[in-house]
Amino acid sequence: MDRRDFLKAAGAGAMVMAAPGSLLAALSGLTAEEVERRVAEVVPKLTLSEKIDLMAGKISRTLLGAFGVGDGGHGYTGQTVGNARLGIPRVLCTDGPRGVGFMYTATCFPVGMCRGAAWDPELEARVGSVMGYEERAIGGNMLLAPCINVLWHPRWGRAQETYGEDPYHLGAMGAGFVNGVQEHVMACAKHYAVNNVEDSRMFVNAVVDERTLREIFLPHFKKCVDAKVASVMSAYNDVNGDLCSDSMHLMRDILKGEWEFDGFVVSDWENAVEDTVGAAKAGLDLEMPRAKFYGRKLKAAVESGQVPESVIDEAASRMCRQLFRFVGPDFAAGYDKKRMACPEHAAVALESARKGIVLLKNENSALPLVRGEVKTVAVLGEVAKEKNIGDHGSSIVRPPYIVSALEGLTDRAGSVRIIYESGKNLAAAKAAAGKADAVVVVAGYTYKEEGEGRDRASLALPDAQQSLILAAAEANQRCVVVLESGSAIAMDPWIGKVPAVVMAWYPGMEGGHAIADVVFGDVNPSGKLPIVFPRSEDQLAKFDNGSKEVKYGRYHGYRYMEKHGAEPLFPFGFGLSYTTYQYANLKLDKKSAGRSGKVVARVDVTNTGKMAGEEVVELYAGCPGSKVDRAKKELKGFARVALAPGETKTVAIELSVPELAYYNVDAGAWEVEEAEYIISLGPSSCEDDLLKERLKVTGA
Ligand code: BGC
Repeated sequence: MDRRDFLKAAGAGAMVMAAPGSLLAALSGLTAEEVERRVAEVVPKLTLSEKIDLMAGKISRTLLGAFGVGDGGHGYTGQTVGNARLGIPRVLCTDGPRGVGFMYTATCFPVGMCRGAAWDPELEARVGSVMGYEERAIGGNMLLAPCINVLWHPRWGRAQETYGEDPYHLGAMGAGFVNGVQEHVMACAKHYAVNNVEDSRMFVNAVVDERTLREIFLPHFKKCVDAKVASVMSAYNDVNGDLCSDSMHLMRDILKGEWEFDGFVVSDWENAVEDTVGAAKAGLDLEMPRAKFYGRKLKAAVESGQVPESVIDEAASRMCRQLFRFVGPDFAAGYDKKRMACPEHAAVALESARKGIVLLKNENSALPLVRGEVKTVAVLGEVAKEKNIGDHGSSIVRPPYIVSALEGLTDRAGSVRIIYESGKNLAAAKAAAGKADAVVVVAGYTYKEEGEGRDRASLALPDAQQSLILAAAEANQRCVVVLESGSAIAMDPWIGKVPAVVMAWYPGMEGGHAIADVVFGDVNPSGKLPIVFPRSEDQLAKFDNGSKEVKYGRYHGYRYMEKHGAEPLFPFGFGLSYTTYQYANLKLDKKSAGRSGKVVARVDVTNTGKMAGEEVVELYAGCPGSKVDRAKKELKGFARVALAPGETKTVAIELSVPELAYYNVDAGAWEVEEAEYIISLGPSSCEDDLLKERLKVTGA
């Protein structure tokens, strides 16, 4: 369907949203105490077989397709049978991180990486709320998202699904999303843990020391647990010799033990479970999508005494607890399938694309292309015509329409004449660029080169695209490169030849419009990189996606580059705007704080340019005198602030002192050192841009 027809057909109407901050238990109509009472009543009444039935998915031909919407919906990604006798609902779930998967007419949001670049957990909660609404509207009760794996390396095929490389940022974004989704349905934080490659994900053993595990790979999962996420998905890979689905340490010691997670752990689909007894004992509550190692095998293991029945009781209780919390009678009543990808939902997708697009370079005010001043724009590149919304793996979403970059630029051109050349004929592309007032080359990747099960081969653009950029830049000085991809692109061969670069990621169904809004200056860009962009791959920690065993060191991304003195192409947290901001008067509300205390950092940010804008203010902390080896600095807070031209606002960011802790392996505990910390605030992680203050931590 054409976009306009769809919008007409969908009509207008208010988005149904639960009251913000509504109690989880209120979703099913029960209080938390009532939920626990019901769990305690029901579980003892279940037979062993019935309990075991709750612990595995069932692929059912009748269910498949029965709930699909639009032409040829594909049903749910997974479902369980529940228990009709005792009124236990079934789990009905779909992927995934950029919208409701496997269904037609769902809103396709920008990928997680683009939303991560918005640095806006409040917006992310609204994104989650729309996805949760749509999941519930199709009768589902669980969304297999967020993906919060650390981007260890930009060649990771699923880079696009996660929010970035930094645990603090991942935790804030993931928790925001969970809050939004869980206004309507259960969310699932995935993939737990150390899941950073695709090519070898089914067999790799990720070797990681305890401190790195705790500090780099897990804190964001903990934040989602604190946000009361209903479920956590175990990853396909091994960690330190244990398959994630068999890992006592990850599931029993940490997740369910230390963090007191009261939800359920679901396996990462086919082939994530390999051992009935191992998985059950380690605390894997739900095998999906069907009982390969659970079901009959699990019953036999209980009957032979290999798995204590208490393990089954616990898993059944966890399943019931979340289902009773979330799923009440007439679950989807009031939720309207016609509202899938309706204009209000698409508007949230557009907003998040606009806020996630990052302006990386803008010399000589090459951008924006102001209508009137610019009369003809040549748009070049095959990617401009791609409906480029990201991977076709489990995160696939099928929206009713997708606005490509070329369509977006054409829709929003107004008085500007757009001419298009694919670039296959370089001479024709060059000629078009030569006769236009400005040229926009749209380059990057598609689902063909990166995605689930496939890591990207290189950080560089394909040769033909590099040649196109160079040819366009030679023909026209006002040459803007718009990039689409799931993560970093190395630009050294051509970056010096073009005045402007815009990183658009995979910007979702409304992405073309968001790109045009930035290019024509209708939107002032405000996204910041949630990952570092290196000049070349050799600046990063090595990416090994082929070996059976990969050792992860303590450093990756910006932490690694700072440690090794490598100058990034664009630093973590970096992004330009059409206006300029000045930072001044950094003050901490106290010079010293206790180990469990709080400090408020305040900084004056002034919009010194002529355009209204939004600025992301970042807070980093370092402990130069630490008794242990530490990153020079780490992100520990951020805030988004809107500023009119000439306006100054004092931005306050609260730093919780326990965030400064390192994991003391000998003590088996987090330790906040009594030491002096450097607290830096500014527009990016670039040292030159940061204002600094000292904080002494002493006492309790
Ligand atoms: C992916 C998960 C996804 C699941 C169900 C797995 O292969 O890793 O992210 O949720 O499939 O589609």
